[in-house]
Amino acid sequence: MEKIVLCITGASGFIYGERILHELLKGHFVYLIVSESGFKVMEEESGIKKEDFLKNLPENCTFYDQNMIESPISSGSRLIETKGVIVAPCSTGTLGAVANGISNNLIHRVCDVALKERKKLFMLVREMPLSLIHIKNMEKITVAGGTVAVASPAFYNNPKTVDDMINFVVGKVLDHFGINHNLYRRWKDENI
Ligand SMILES: Cc1cc2nc3c(=O)[nH]c(=O)nc-3n(C[C@H](O)[C@H](O)[C@H](O)COP(=O)(O)O)c2cc1C
Repeated sequence: MEKIVLCITGASGFIYGERILHELLKGHFVYLIVSESGFKVMEEESGIKKEDFLKNLPENCTFYDQNMIESPISSGSRLIETKGVIVAPCSTGTLGAVANGISNNLIHRVCDVALKERKKLFMLVREMPLSLIHIKNMEKITVAGGTVAVASPAFYNNPKTVDDMINFVVGKVLDHFGINHNLYRRWKDENI
């Protein structure tokens, strides 16, 4: 089973991280890190408590606390075994830390390692509007080889529900890692 790292931070949009996790678990071993703020936003937006969330994780998922800097994936020698790192949703705080090489917690560290090992890094930022600082930090990540996206569902596929809009964004993240899915209707695809 291929391995992948998923980080959920304290930006609004816990549902994006939750749905990406759900999709990844269908065919991957997932190393999951949720920041302390990520857990707070999770409870705020979905009513799920940290203990209940952790209790329900399946066998093909290993959870690390944001402070577990000694975890295997802190090391390039282990992160290189994975497909890369997804941060979704990504706060502007985590974006700024990674863009400036400040590895204060395990999420920052795995992103830093992904960039140095030339593994894929996808940061799904959620903020609106953006300051020049955010934009400059996005530029830094992009120049360093990562991919930055602001969660922005499309309308050309005629979404009918909020779920459709979430699935579009999640599908675009999975596309980046070459992971098959049926989450959104592609442009001019009559087969769905
Ligand atoms: C309910 C709630 C919603 C938030 N939404 C956002 C957001 O959309 N984008 C963002 O950058 N920060 C948002 N924040 C602030 C972050 O949680 C905060 O900056 C935090 O320090 C980020 O830490 P982390 O990156 O380690 O998770 C939100 C906080 C709360 C409590």
